Amino acid sequence: MILEKIRELVAQMTLEEKAAMCSGADFWHTEAVERLGIPASMVSDGPHGLRKQDEKADHLGANESIKAVCFPAGCGTAASFNRELLTQMGEVLGNECQAEGISVILGPAVNIKRSPLCGRNFEYYSEDPLVATEIAGALIKGIQSKNVGTSIKHFLANNQETRRLSSDSRIDERTLNEIYLAAFEGAVKKQKPWTVMCSYNRINGIYAAQNHEYLTKTLRDKWGFDGYVMSDWGAVNNRVEDLKAGLDLEMPTSLGANDKLIVEAVQNGTLDEKIVDTAVERILNIVFRYEENRDKNAVWDKDKDHEMARKVAQETIVLLKNEDVLPLDEKADIVFIGKYAKEPRYQGGGSSHINSFKITSAMDIVSEMSNITYAQGFQDEEDKTDEKLLAEAVEAAKKAKAAVIFAGLPDAFESEGFDRKHMSMPDCQNELIEKVAEVQPNTIVVLHNGSPVEMPWVNKVKGIVEAYLSGQAVGGAVCDILFGKVNPSAKLPETFPLKLEDNPSYLSYFGEGDMVEYREGIFVGYRYYDKKKMDVLFPFGHGLSYTTFEYSNLNVDKEKIKDTDTMTVSVDVTNTGKMAGKEVVQLYVADRKSTVIRPVKELRDFAKVELAPGETKTVSFVLDKRAFAYYSVKIHDWHVETGEFDILIGKSSRDIVLSKTVTVESTVKIPFTYTTDTTVGDVMEEPRAWELAKKFMGKGIFGVDERNLKDEDDAAAQMAKYTPLRGPVSFQGGVSMADVQRLVDELNALE
Ligand code: BGC
Repeated sequence: MILEKIRELVAQMTLEEKAAMCSGADFWHTEAVERLGIPASMVSDGPHGLRKQDEKADHLGANESIKAVCFPAGCGTAASFNRELLTQMGEVLGNECQAEGISVILGPAVNIKRSPLCGRNFEYYSEDPLVATEIAGALIKGIQSKNVGTSIKHFLANNQETRRLSSDSRIDERTLNEIYLAAFEGAVKKQKPWTVMCSYNRINGIYAAQNHEYLTKTLRDKWGFDGYVMSDWGAVNNRVEDLKAGLDLEMPTSLGANDKLIVEAVQNGTLDEKIVDTAVERILNIVFRYEENRDKNAVWDKDKDHEMARKVAQETIVLLKNEDVLPLDEKADIVFIGKYAKEPRYQGGGSSHINSFKITSAMDIVSEMSNITYAQGFQDEEDKTDEKLLAEAVEAAKKAKAAVIFAGLPDAFESEGFDRKHMSMPDCQNELIEKVAEVQPNTIVVLHNGSPVEMPWVNKVKGIVEAYLSGQAVGGAVCDILFGKVNPSAKLPETFPLKLEDNPSYLSYFGEGDMVEYREGIFVGYRYYDKKKMDVLFPFGHGLSYTTFEYSNLNVDKEKIKDTDTMTVSVDVTNTGKMAGKEVVQLYVADRKSTVIRPVKELRDFAKVELAPGETKTVSFVLDKRAFAYYSVKIHDWHVETGEFDILIGKSSRDIVLSKTVTVESTVKIPFTYTTDTTVGDVMEEPRAWELAKKFMGKGIFGVDERNLKDEDDAAAQMAKYTPLRGPVSFQGGVSMADVQRLVDELNALE
């Protein structure tokens, strides 16, 4: 509906009707105004399948949802590094929503994985904002192509479950922009989600729901968001102030209490009615966008979507380790060990939990293969070794040619609502793996988990497959990989540290009471491990294949650009092995020299290519200013320092295969104000300033000849360099503070 018509409708609504429109009618619906033909609109979780509650939805939204299809969770889909695949998955989800009458699916969830402990990491994408925002954008594109909205969430800086409704994320401006906002930015700007969900927590003291800075200035003014902002369920704490900040729709519903506050505030003049009108306009705009594009013929073919879930899962499973043990010979005697071979853990707990219409386990897939046996190995309800199950598994492993252990984290170890306490798998499972590996040289571990685990047995097994939480078709996808029907192509969207204590947020994660300081700053994930040159268990971007890829011909269209230009980078990738496969080409940029503290390198683009044996394809990337920039708190904007940058092409963040140095020239000058405290060294950076200063200081500065001032090995020169302009007053004599001030004024007057 065109805006004019919506405005006409709003003009006909009473203040009470408008106030009511600003909050849910119930747990999942917006308000209807029958007399004006405004329908109620249903929203539902999301995001890796539909959690649509039927009409009997209870107030807590906790009753069973309809039977649906569970796709791989965010942890896995990000590992695919495949935008096209995510768009296809989105199209399927969008169609499901059309068939079920859902206007907005509540996701994707892009919060950065600050720590492996976050209970909701399984729903989130990455420790890297580019991966998070690109994968989210691809999913949004697919869903919205079916005229169904998305709600990118949880905006902003909601990176832990501990005290999630009251915690205060204390983050500096640069870190917010480079890491936490960036996870949303690309997707919001490029794919224009219909809605955004604001988080529960505070950001630097102000609740997300009340945060004008982010809900309005950033989201709308800077990024051009034009949909409506809804609250996370129960995130509203001051309805009137939230509305002023830019929170349009309160969810679920205060059963009228907050609507009354809105009416009163307008009546007593503390809230401008125009703000209410705008919020209603935004909500109706989306309500009608959906209504007018309803696909009444949409059919939800669950079996077909189950196959799609398997296809997605095939690309979300990361081959972490393979010492010539995989793929397995389908004819060999193999034992599948572990409860998850029969009852896979394939999704996480909480609001994204899908009521799967069917689940395929690995044992279902191999049920007709008499060469494959099964041993349960462990119970997963409690972390206690079951000696009988353990002994049976070890016995079976002894007799087989290979043992595949289906292990991972039980439901009780990770979920929405609470964080993990440690990074370990249950002891009983670790013990099982060790004992089986002692008797069976060809032991492979398949992991079912939403976040990294420590692997004390890493050197004792020959194969490790990270299945993440790969949805209801996981058994099929895992078998496809194990038996080589599908060539693994996923890569880790996060670092697996050797131990929890290595993680950069370790010292301050959870915070003190509600106060959570993000003390590691921009050094999240690989940005930290690289800078510290730390060994990790598996690095960001790592993932093996059954074929081999070689890279050559790294080229740039221009070796020198201005920061207003773009640069095209191309590289050839060849499949040098015997099996067709897909490769994720990763492009990192490293600033060779910088006056600000920067990571060693940062992922700036990636692409996934499919190659037949012997085939070569050229992959191209277009880099713009952002690829070279950091966020400057001096100008409150992105900035590139003139200088050299390395373009690095990697198979992972720790396996860089090609590099090229280019030059970028800045067109922006960061204003610099001279003071009497400005150092001699800083003045030397500007030739004209230095000429002036030299005249003032006379021949030598502390007896150091000008020619030697730049000599880094000259101790006196170093002392002189760090001397403030006022230094000569105390050390040289003959000049006064007033003289220095005159110099400072002259320096500041220079163009
Ligand atoms: C979660 C959201 C979810 C909402 C509705 C909240 O508790 O944080 O992610 O969309 O509930 O179920």
